Amino acid sequence: MDDTPARSNDKPLLQTLAGQPADRLPVWLMRQAGRYLPEYRAVRAKAKNFIDFCFRPDLAAEATLQPLRRFDLDAAIVFSDILVVPLALGQKVWFEEGQGPRLEAIREPEDLATLCADNLEPRLAAVYQTLEAVAAELPSGKALIGFAGAPWTLASYMIEGQTSRDFARLKRFAYGHPEAFERLLALLVEAVARHLVAQVRAGAEAVQVFDSWAGVLPEPELKAWSLAPMVEIARRLREACPGVPVIAFPRGAGLTYEAFAESGGFDALGLDTTLPLGWAAERLQPKVVVQGNLDPVKLLVGGSALTLGVDRILAALEPERLVFNLGHGVLPETPPEHVAEVVARVRGARA
Ligand code: CP3
Repeated sequence: MDDTPARSNDKPLLQTLAGQPADRLPVWLMRQAGRYLPEYRAVRAKAKNFIDFCFRPDLAAEATLQPLRRFDLDAAIVFSDILVVPLALGQKVWFEEGQGPRLEAIREPEDLATLCADNLEPRLAAVYQTLEAVAAELPSGKALIGFAGAPWTLASYMIEGQTSRDFARLKRFAYGHPEAFERLLALLVEAVARHLVAQVRAGAEAVQVFDSWAGVLPEPELKAWSLAPMVEIARRLREACPGVPVIAFPRGAGLTYEAFAESGGFDALGLDTTLPLGWAAERLQPKVVVQGNLDPVKLLVGGSALTLGVDRILAALEPERLVFNLGHGVLPETPPEHVAEVVARVRGARA
């Protein structure tokens, strides 16, 4: 049954994702809320820790809206984290200040028995309340994006217990216990699909699925463990919420981006920093809208690195099928003025 809230089509991001001519070239930035903004650091200080912050709808809604108050962006992305899903499945997750995420790692197939999706939505109710609060305050013309981590990237944190350099523990589990690993991916497909459905019902108008570590896989496993689960998530989401656009971000997928485009599963693909633009224009844009892919370090450095980087993207890609963004998230040391400069430059190219 379709109980998706009515969606307005006067929003440039939604127009472009639907393949329609847009009023202007949409721009938003991955990690547009975060430590580079002094006002973010001020709200962040009100929460006990990062997880508590993610589960405080008043603070999270404020963090979501902050970048839109400063910059003329076309979308807000709900302030949360991909690791709320393992948390809702019953895994211990915490953040060491200044070091990033830590999880009580899954080491053996038997450890999977500790995970359970039964109470997923009640445990994530705060995320949906954040979306409802943001939707009520969103300026006209701006779209609201929900998100989740893809099963492969979630599995990487769940098995490694933290960010990794070579993902050897994750790969040893996946190659060494293929049946148990498939069971984990199936559980994550179920959990992520339900989390996205609940976000759309709470007011998200588009969703992005982050597969930040897709690029560490050989091609057959990239298709089996990154692409296939993401296609299945998009299918389930569309079944529950017809018409909701899905953006996939398989960072580092290289030539396999083409298989993502050909799968028909996604409305748009987030291009990572390294993907050649001429190739993307020729092989991807005829099949799918693309989003990206300014190097976040060019945004940090500013000057001609930034302006040339922006101009190259605008010149190389078909503007009707482009959402301007970064190739990965905003870095904490980025001067906020550089974000304003990027938005102005994109606007100048096509008002
Ligand atoms: O503005 C937005 O984009 C929305 C919020 C958002 C956060 N995390 C907030 C956050 C989003 C979309 C994410 C996604 C996310 N989280 C990903 C996928 C995107 C990517 O970067 O590859 C991943 C891998 C995570 C897991 C995660 N969360 C890591 C590795 C870290 C530590 C790194 C760091 O920057 O500190 C986090 C913490 C985190 N998530 C912060 C923010 C703003 C910083 C925490 C703080 O304020 O102390």
